Amino acid sequence: MIYDDDLPHPASRRPFNDIKESHAMIFCLLSFTTVISLIISNLSDTSFSSMRALVVTKYAHPTQIPLDKDAPEPKPSSDRVIVEVYSAGLNFFDVYLTSSRVLLSSLLLSIASVAQTFVSTMKQISNSAAVSLHLRRRPGDRVFGFSQGAYADRVAANWKQMLPLPRNMTYDQGAGLHITWPTSYEALVGRGELKPGDWVLVIAAAGGVGLAAVQLAKALGAKVIGAAGSPEKMEICKRYGGADFAVNYTTPDWQKEVRAITNGHGADIIYDPVGRIRDSLKCIAWKGRAIVVGFAGGQIEKLPLNLVLLKNIAVTGIFWGAYDVFEPERYHTVWRELLQMIESGRVKPIVYPEVFDLEHVGDGLRAIEERRTWGKAVVRVRPDDSEAARAKL
Ligand SMILES: NC(=O)c1ccc[n+]([C@@H]2O[C@H](COP(=O)([O-])OP(=O)(O)OC[C@H]3O[C@@H](n4cnc5c(N)ncnc54)[C@H](OP(=O)(O)O)[C@@H]3O)[C@@H](O)[C@H]2O)c1
Repeated sequence: MIYDDDLPHPASRRPFNDIKESHAMIFCLLSFTTVISLIISNLSDTSFSSMRALVVTKYAHPTQIPLDKDAPEPKPSSDRVIVEVYSAGLNFFDVYLTSSRVLLSSLLLSIASVAQTFVSTMKQISNSAAVSLHLRRRPGDRVFGFSQGAYADRVAANWKQMLPLPRNMTYDQGAGLHITWPTSYEALVGRGELKPGDWVLVIAAAGGVGLAAVQLAKALGAKVIGAAGSPEKMEICKRYGGADFAVNYTTPDWQKEVRAITNGHGADIIYDPVGRIRDSLKCIAWKGRAIVVGFAGGQIEKLPLNLVLLKNIAVTGIFWGAYDVFEPERYHTVWRELLQMIESGRVKPIVYPEVFDLEHVGDGLRAIEERRTWGKAVVRVRPDDSEAARAKL
């Protein structure tokens, strides 16, 4: 059950060689998107074991940041509750946070990521009118959401940024939900106005948002072409995403393959989280919609507008992180529709098989930097003892 009061936030990343401060702001907002799955622990139990956390005391690459095994406990406040972290999403943006390549110092008190949900210390929470009025969780509820500092045993999280984790999902799967899935859903449905039968071309189709976009487009009745950077990733987007076709977008003239696959029609929708819009326009359909999702390739792409005119197309963007501010109703609608699809099994979040532990957060982030991961890479903080995990054994 999803309540209207429940809402989370979005995320992001990448080696943005030419991204300056204004863009850093956007990515800061997006970065708050890493996700995590947690559980609401026993509200009366305020005794915790020692607290492990990746604490940033000086800026460095995450592989150089040791795990603090006696970190300060997070504190609940008028709008924050304490949650126990089970799994946390890995996002490239965390590399920026720990290395201070963006101006986030005040936010960097301790940690690089986000994620969270709530837990224990309800006594303190009950003093808050806002929380006690709206909080609809019980101790032991499984939730997902985001909050900075989630590479840790526990984190203080805003209750508004938490949603109930569907029963059929493991914590690892939940850790990849928060930003990734609503971004892809709204990009395709809200911005791309996807219709059953459309040809959808997804760039980086084996990546986090890419694989979600492939699954969603298929579930919504589109014909999907996954574009990936290697034969292995082409296989991933077919096997785990259900893509009808796959092409390697690092090979010359890959657009001709797309035209051939679509019998010359071209792609009605192009979903691009890398910065390959201009390339992709060579195979866009008449009245096609190209969606700018991100710049994983490291450069903010520039586009000659004559192409937009000559191709008779629309180029549109998605910034999921701002929806709860500018369009809260749509924010709720997207989550409601998306969670229905997940709960019914029409789509299924895919976790990168190499799951990292808290001691190896840096290794996980390095794997993302090196473009080795596919699906959603996660950190497992504590073992998953849930029904969903047992069912998958
Ligand atoms: N607009 C929004 O609201 C929103 C929300 C979430 C994420 N995003 C953005 O979407 C982008 C992708 O996010 P993600 O979570 O899907 O990341 P991801 O899981 O790491 O996937 C990114 C994929 O991009 C491709 N890629 C191409 N050039 C790359 C490079 N130089 N370095 C690394 N990867 C490169 C890789 O696929 P191949 O090897 O197949 O090329 C990689 O798997 C990010 O820029 C993120 O900030 C935007």
